[in-house]
Amino acid sequence: MVKIAIFASGSGTNFDNIMRRIAKGELAHIEVTALYTDQPTAPCVTLGHEHHITVHTFTPKSYHSKEAYELDVLAKLQDEQVEWIVLAGYMRLIGQTLLDAYEGKILNIHPSLLPKYKGIDAVGQALNNGENETGSTVHYVDAGMDTGQIIAQRTCPIYQDDTKATLENRIKALEYELYPEVIQEIIQ
Ligand code: GRF
Repeated sequence: MVKIAIFASGSGTNFDNIMRRIAKGELAHIEVTALYTDQPTAPCVTLGHEHHITVHTFTPKSYHSKEAYELDVLAKLQDEQVEWIVLAGYMRLIGQTLLDAYEGKILNIHPSLLPKYKGIDAVGQALNNGENETGSTVHYVDAGMDTGQIIAQRTCPIYQDDTKATLENRIKALEYELYPEVIQEIIQ
């Protein structure tokens, strides 16, 4: 079994999807030790409890530095013997402490065809720019924002009458297939 930690900050639907697939017997070699979140009141916390796994909640602003926060996170990861970190809507840049400890072992999923539309509101950026397609990218995490080496992408169309919500849903449907596939392949 390979132990992974999932980091999320918001709705947690990608996290939920991974947990459901594991419950169905997919990703059979993966064990999620815990959900890690920097948003103690986010919906992902409730999902974590529903899946009966440990939820580690952190309040980053209560630490005097990013390093202090990440050292606390790292202590939990090491305690649980986590080998890979899977970011699923974790809205914070990974700092040097975690990058050094998990070099080449942190994955992220981003709702655009990177290198286009890095950062926040990637869905709105693609929509407002008049693109006729967009998609989702899984990549390794480095010190930049959505700049790490690309592993895989999936595309979907953007329609004339799309709103951000309809487009977001179309992209998430892609992500629910893409992320488990990449996790299966990359995390051995
Ligand atoms: C996903 O679209 C992912 O690409 C991005 O944040 C979103 C998270 O959604 N990094 P959810 O919390 O998994 O529903």
